[in-house]
Amino acid sequence: MTLSSVWQHTMEKSESLSASNACLHKRTGVYYSFQELSSTRRKGFLMEHAAPFSAFLTDRFGRQHNYLRISLTEKCNLRCQYCMPEEGVHLTPKSELLTTHEIITLARLFVKEGVDKIRLTGGEPLIRPDVVDIVAQLYKIEGIKTIAVTTNGINLARLLPRLKEAGLDAINISLDTLVPAKFEFIVRRKGFHKVMEGIHKAIELGYNPVKVNCVVMRGLNEDELLDFVDLTKNLPLDVRFIEYMPFDGNKWNFKKMVSYKEMLDTIKQRWPELEKLPCEASSTAKAYKVPDFQGQVSFITSMSEHFCGTCSRLRITADGNLKVCLFGNSEVSLRDHLRVGSSEDELVEIIGAAVGRKKKQHAGMFNISQMKNRPMILIGG
Ligand SMILES: C[S@@+](CC[C@H](N)C(=O)[O-])C[C@H]1O[C@@H](n2cnc3c(N)ncnc32)[C@H](O)[C@@H]1O
Ligand code: SF4
Repeated sequence: MTLSSVWQHTMEKSESLSASNACLHKRTGVYYSFQELSSTRRKGFLMEHAAPFSAFLTDRFGRQHNYLRISLTEKCNLRCQYCMPEEGVHLTPKSELLTTHEIITLARLFVKEGVDKIRLTGGEPLIRPDVVDIVAQLYKIEGIKTIAVTTNGINLARLLPRLKEAGLDAINISLDTLVPAKFEFIVRRKGFHKVMEGIHKAIELGYNPVKVNCVVMRGLNEDELLDFVDLTKNLPLDVRFIEYMPFDGNKWNFKKMVSYKEMLDTIKQRWPELEKLPCEASSTAKAYKVPDFQGQVSFITSMSEHFCGTCSRLRITADGNLKVCLFGNSEVSLRDHLRVGSSEDELVEIIGAAVGRKKKQHAGMFNISQMKNRPMILIGG
């Protein structure tokens, strides 16, 4: 294009396109409508013109942390063997836990810096009495695209209509077995039917997919992989098989861990036509589907094939500590800084420094299993 035709094209387009659907090409100065751009060029355009991501939430390896998990409580109505130490955990006094106001203040700050997805977790987030109100308050924060919850499902059927109305976008429900008696053994409590009821309620209310988190442990539930795959035949589920991870007090050992490859082999023996699905770059899950099944299965391979290189997650524990890595033990108390009246700028500096110290990758499952960390229940998965 000659300069004059570029100018003419620009003028014509700028007159006929509203500001909202017109894209100005930076170098040529030509306006295009979004529809005119091919999807690849559209993606390129968006990348080129996206607002720069916060330097505070970008680490030295270029990872942009747009996903925050907030633990709402250290308490739980179940006692899963892989999460809660047999002897229980020392609970933080209530006065040292984040208040709802503090949770929302921190959420707002992180969203202002570029976080657009928040997951509420715990302990069991749905035992926090004001969980619906927390979702409603998060929903009002401008810039949040996704509010999600990870729950054991016990209180889900009862609370979901109100959670949905408050703005809950996505749900992960933990379920490690389809055998009621085994359920009681794994989680050391009753409740299998309530969890199933929660799953069906989520489907009924239109969540799609409903994600089901299944921690696979040798000798416990690895014989149920195919039953879980069958569950995806007529239901819009994404069953996520999670490799068993070591945390304080959960008696992890390598022999109990069933690797992704091993699970995949077992499933492929029954379903050789299992197809791999494309994944987003920042996804932690490797997704597969049996052709013609309504749902799909995925694998969370944190141990055998970690995904630290694309990690975009930060965590805030119920007692207000920022954890930049699930498997790292370095923490900084945002609660303390909030309570001494640190300004927003100071808090952002503190968060930025912690993100800046984030390691390239976790230390490997054997080192992690020897390392001091919190029990999972006190982190928030
Ligand atoms: C800590 S729980 C908190 C939320 C809620 N109570 C629940 O169970 O869904 C979050 C997730 O972490 C998973 N998890 C806990 N301990 C784990 C471990 N040792 N290895 C792998 N996943 C684990 C649970 O299965 C659950 O899906
Ligand atoms: S995995 Fe969830 S439900 Fe099970 S003990 Fe941990 S926090 Fe509770």
